[in-house]
Amino acid sequence: MSELAEKRILLGLTGGIAAYKAADLARGLIKQGAEVQVVMTDAACRFISPLTLQALTGKPVYTSMWDDRVGNGMPHIELSRDRDLIVVAPATADFMAKLVHGTADDLLATLCIARECPLMVAPAMNRQMWENPATRRNVKQLSSDGIIIEGPASGDQACGENGMGRMSEPDQIVESIVSWFQPKLLAGARILVTAGPTYEPIDAVRGITNLSSGRMGYAVARAAHEAGAKVTLISGRTGLQPPANVSVIDIITAQQMHDEVMERLSECDILIAVAAVADYRVSNREQHKIKKKAGAGLTLELEPNPDILGSVAAHKDGPFCVGFSAESQNIESHAAEKRRRKNIPLIAANLVQAAFGSEQNELILIDDEGAHRLPRSSKLQQARGLIRHITRLYKPGRKSVTAR
Ligand code: C5P
Repeated sequence: MSELAEKRILLGLTGGIAAYKAADLARGLIKQGAEVQVVMTDAACRFISPLTLQALTGKPVYTSMWDDRVGNGMPHIELSRDRDLIVVAPATADFMAKLVHGTADDLLATLCIARECPLMVAPAMNRQMWENPATRRNVKQLSSDGIIIEGPASGDQACGENGMGRMSEPDQIVESIVSWFQPKLLAGARILVTAGPTYEPIDAVRGITNLSSGRMGYAVARAAHEAGAKVTLISGRTGLQPPANVSVIDIITAQQMHDEVMERLSECDILIAVAAVADYRVSNREQHKIKKKAGAGLTLELEPNPDILGSVAAHKDGPFCVGFSAESQNIESHAAEKRRRKNIPLIAANLVQAAFGSEQNELILIDDEGAHRLPRSSKLQQARGLIRHITRLYKPGRKSVTAR
């Protein structure tokens, strides 16, 4: 999928060892469909050859204010116009200081000041330089000037030290750019997402759970945030890193998930129930670890858990409800039946064999109009497709359509 089709990005390189990663970044942006124009400082040219970037982007690389290849002799204006974004990666401590002060002593710094488009910087420097009070002040100032700061990450550094200051990996920078470009179709909406498996204790150390990884729910939470929504993620145990800027509430059992959802219903416009909730819990749960009795069987008594999505959908003034349906066969008919039974406007169905534990998914979205298939892709791309579909059906202030 070309997530950056028709986006015109200017990629600026400054003089840090992470400049070698900018070659991968240029490739990653192009792979997503972006048109990439590279501009390098003199120091960046000491770390990586402009020819490398020229070969990868198929465009001449600009390094000088006085480049006579630009017709009007003003490359700082020409190159910064009609751009959708300028990304400076790596951005050195020195370059960020220049941006703070508006210093315009080379082509890249000048065109950043002359720009009409947003600017993202991916800092890269030694940990001590990153922690220096001057750098801390500068980063704060750049953020308050509206400049997007991507990273840095923590870990091994080229200088042999370990700490904060490594440039974000190229894939991460591409992801962050794609994320940033998502249309803010749900600005202001408050969205609750349930995710992951629930765990129903049998005794102090054992329980009933399922194979849900939580990845789809986390991707939905992230896509909803990218679309401008205020997102709360109510999650079973997953071990996943929560998406940035999303409030996370950890739960263990279905009953806890139910209670957390119900408590927040009055502040919720849309509920997206992605969690694989256990249908039953153990009613004869033991406080302590059950001891094995040689040769004897063990019977567990199960009682139904509350149907979270079903109860929310039954609320008269409840939110717009979206369900998930993991099926092992007859996906469409089972999901359509579930949508009618739960009386919800939209359900996203998938084949369990294709989704559980996998990085990819293939959703079928079923609404009043019928079935809409999303081609197989990463869970994040599927989640973005789902969010786009929700924005077509959801009307702020009303529950929207109900299932026929
Ligand atoms: O009822 P069933 O499990 O077939 O439906 C799946 C959908 O219902 C999913 O969206 C799931 O998150 C939600 N669900 C729920 N509470 C339950 C069981 C399922 O919210 N107890």
